Amino acid sequence: MSHTINSTYTDIIQHAEALHKWKDNLTSEPYRSYLYAYPHKTSYRELENKLPLSELWSQEAAETLFLYMHIPFCGARCGFCNLFTLPDKRVNVHTQYVDALERQAEQWAGIMPNKPIARFAIGGGTPTLLEPVQLDRLFHIAQQIMGMDPAQASISVETSPDTITTERLDILKSRQVDRVSMGIQSFVEFEADAIYRPQKPQEVESALKQLKLYSYPILNLDLIYGLPGQTLESWLYSLDKALSYEPEELFIYPLYTREHTIVKPEQIRQSGEDQRLTLYRAARERLLMRGYTQYSMRRFAKADAMSAKSLLPYGCQEEGMIGLGCGARSYTKTVHYSSRYSVGRAATASIIADYVASSDYTHADYGIVLSADDQQRRFILKALLHTEGLALSSYVERFTTSAFADYPELNLLVHTELAVIEEEVLRLTEEGLMYSDSIGDWFISPAIRERMESCILL
Ligand SMILES: C[S@@+](CC[C@H](N)C(=O)[O-])C[C@H]1O[C@@H](n2cnc3c(N)ncnc32)[C@H](O)[C@@H]1O
Ligand code: SF4
Repeated sequence: MSHTINSTYTDIIQHAEALHKWKDNLTSEPYRSYLYAYPHKTSYRELENKLPLSELWSQEAAETLFLYMHIPFCGARCGFCNLFTLPDKRVNVHTQYVDALERQAEQWAGIMPNKPIARFAIGGGTPTLLEPVQLDRLFHIAQQIMGMDPAQASISVETSPDTITTERLDILKSRQVDRVSMGIQSFVEFEADAIYRPQKPQEVESALKQLKLYSYPILNLDLIYGLPGQTLESWLYSLDKALSYEPEELFIYPLYTREHTIVKPEQIRQSGEDQRLTLYRAARERLLMRGYTQYSMRRFAKADAMSAKSLLPYGCQEEGMIGLGCGARSYTKTVHYSSRYSVGRAATASIIADYVASSDYTHADYGIVLSADDQQRRFILKALLHTEGLALSSYVERFTTSAFADYPELNLLVHTELAVIEEEVLRLTEEGLMYSDSIGDWFISPAIRERMESCILL
């Protein structure tokens, strides 16, 4: 395989015209795929052998762990969303789900290596859709069963404007949550309607005002650009509205649509034109001007935003993520696993029903065993798609070889000025960062791409 890469790479690099073409091709489609994790979940399959978690985790090298709980329920399904979640507000359904999550945690506790939890996140779906008593139970499970010490772990919770209540916010405060992240998407009613998100701007604003009273160390807001009907003006209006609440962190997401989403790809183009690059540039400029630091194509934050706690160290390049709940992924160094994945309503409901009915959570049966190639690519992508970049020595330390020797095609990024090497760090340029989603996609291994392309999502 490296042969093909080598010859293709050499051919391109030697001809200015070929190099131009390569770049034109890469940048012609800036939004190929959002690699929030590599390998992507659509590359997971039934594992050939069910792996006992006790064996899998006893070999884990990471010194501290990341605990993630997934709550796969929302009040309604937004028209753009393809996360693993189900519109279901029934309290008894939620209770049974948390019961199952508690059983899973108890089985884990017997298996888990005795390692401290440095980070804890509750995501979804919409975790704050849970009744306060169930929401509080999640923290109880994390602390009493999983051994998370809230004084030493950074704690993050996802929420939405329609689920904000004093009772829930009190729980988050008393449980020492550091970061509350709220999905807003847009402050314009017409735009929220167009993405089938039942959300009134007045409700968003009153939820935000309530949230601000609690002064969590980090407030993050999510916005989306490229929405149907959105203009540069209305996008900057939403951005300014968000900024008026002085969030410590902002995620700006380009709109993605997929086969299962109600919002269709043609709706991204206003009068035939995809405006996302223009909207990104304008937002970036405004955010930098307002004193935010850019950490990735999507993430901007105040450089001094941090938890007031003295946190346990957690190396982002270490593995060691324990996922609890249906739809949560777990990562060890060599195996990534989760429950089955779907987007459609019936399939999602049936996967959740199986999870809730289960009495045994002690094996990994669905996921991927990472090849050496994919462990290396993962390492590179995790660093490269962030502004900190890839410290070339860190790659050598981890794999004993050099990143450029293993992947000479990385030179293409440098030759086309999408990346630079400064003080032994390979870093995307301002232009490169803007094309993160096509650079990430380009670097997917052939083996993973084949699996992703043959994935049939129900
Ligand atoms: C789990 S949700 C956030 C919490 C909560 N469920 C909500 O929507 O308010 C994570 C975020 O991912 C972003 N997102 C999800 N699907 C997306 C898509 N197809 N295109 C762009 N952004 C998307 C949205 O900004 C969303 O707020
Ligand atoms: S965007 Fe948030 S609220 Fe909407 S369906 Fe997705 S997870 Fe649920």
